[in-house]
Amino acid sequence: MPKKFAIASDHAGFKRKQEIIEYLKNQGFEVNDLGTKNESSVSYAVFGKKLANFLLENPEQVGIAICGTGLGMSYALNRFKKIRAARVTSENDACLAKLHNNANAIVLSSRFNSKDESISFIQKFLETEYEGGRHQERIDELDK
Ligand code: RB5
Repeated sequence: MPKKFAIASDHAGFKRKQEIIEYLKNQGFEVNDLGTKNESSVSYAVFGKKLANFLLENPEQVGIAICGTGLGMSYALNRFKKIRAARVTSENDACLAKLHNNANAIVLSSRFNSKDESISFIQKFLETEYEGGRHQERIDELDK
């Protein structure tokens, strides 16, 4: 199980970010909080890019991004080669994002999913193993 997380949000995801950090720390995980630091309005693009660059330098870490819908953060992250950021809104998404896509970040909506749902998505993502095989060729194709 991965032991280190890097997490970022915009203002709309700030409270959920703090809840998730508390949960992960209580589980004994190390968490790198890349901001934002409060609920003042900021751009998801800035914090998504910050997380993407951090993950490219620290590929062993699992990324978590949160904004109101999860959409803006996923756009920001997925502009980077080698980043596969899955916007997850169900446990099935969370499972398949790892099983087939070997996602290195999950993106959550603070508006449309609850804290408990978000935590269950994170748990599902962590307990799922990447299947490899035929999926690796497809993943490699993404970055060509
Ligand atoms: C901020 O109001 C909101 O637009 C942002 O959090 C996100 O949902 C954008 O995709």
